[in-house]
Amino acid sequence: MPCMVVVCGFFGDTGKGKIISYLALKDKISVAARAGVGPNAGHTVVYGDKTFRVRMIPSTFIYEKCRLLIGPGVLVDPNVFLNEVRLLNVENRVGLDPQCAIIEPRHIEADRSGHLASEIGTTGSGTGPCNSDRVLRRAKLARDVPELQRFLTDVPLEVNMAIDSGENVLIEGTQGTFLSLWHGTYPYVTSKDVTASAACSDVGVGPKKVDEVIIVFKAYVTRVGSGPLPGEISWEEAERRGWAEIATVTGRRRRAAPFNFDLAKRAVMLNSATQAAITKIDVLFPECKSARSFSDLSLEAKEFIRKVESEIKIPVTLIGTGPDVLDVVDRRFE
Ligand code: IMP
Ligand code: MG
Repeated sequence: MPCMVVVCGFFGDTGKGKIISYLALKDKISVAARAGVGPNAGHTVVYGDKTFRVRMIPSTFIYEKCRLLIGPGVLVDPNVFLNEVRLLNVENRVGLDPQCAIIEPRHIEADRSGHLASEIGTTGSGTGPCNSDRVLRRAKLARDVPELQRFLTDVPLEVNMAIDSGENVLIEGTQGTFLSLWHGTYPYVTSKDVTASAACSDVGVGPKKVDEVIIVFKAYVTRVGSGPLPGEISWEEAERRGWAEIATVTGRRRRAAPFNFDLAKRAVMLNSATQAAITKIDVLFPECKSARSFSDLSLEAKEFIRKVESEIKIPVTLIGTGPDVLDVVDRRFE
């Protein structure tokens, strides 16, 4: 499976970090390219007794042989990037494209005031104002920043060469389908498209080079910031059900709702997904905690998975059963 794209089918925070880090280890991903908007994303990776939260570096970093790239479509905050490089100790295998646009303090300031903060409820990481400067053709690029020089590389060239030589390549999408500037709940969306096609464009890969599109859903839906959320339950009810979550980047409470089959179907269409992953099945069905084969899931959990498959018409190949990277039922080889 030389080239796979991983995207989220709801509003972000479905567990892409976990699924991607699992794939990195299991499939020995040799090159990963981060797509998506920028450091507004927060991907959580729990491996053994350590929890990592990454906003810029691909979630595949736990596989030590993986080359870690950031595509030209992605906005880079040099502070966040350099900090993660240091914390994860990945200096010798990380690269970013000279054409990544740079988030400056004035972008963060603008993102934390006016309608972006009060009406949209953005993450305040500066991504919207920076993308706006990029469209106005006055954004600073990575090639203009001295501290980033040693990391610069032609990311599209590296990724395409890896695909052409049959290596396992993963393109990491961020945010979620319904936060897309084109396909989401405008104006309560992020500052660009975030579907699989956009993720490919972000890293310089054309549609014919993609073998699999894995769409990640969570067993229930969450959303941070403003905008519609069909079937939304109260925070108290979310706490009762174990669905109460706090956002990685902003520390805000995530709003919650039950799994949404209509959104899931549409997301499969918009991303031309070929396989689905469903995470946090152990939150709906605690008896499935840490199960690692389909036969170990309870009857109710299996019924839920089959119902999802009959609605979305693609196989659910990966099922998350706990926070650890290795808590996964992998049906791809069953
Ligand atoms: P922005 O992307 O920071 O401009 O925020 C726009 C909207 O997208 C807000 O509702 C954010 O909460 C949401 N958003 C952006 N990135 C993420 C993410 O990675 N996970 C979940 N929500 C996000
Ligand atoms: Mg997140």
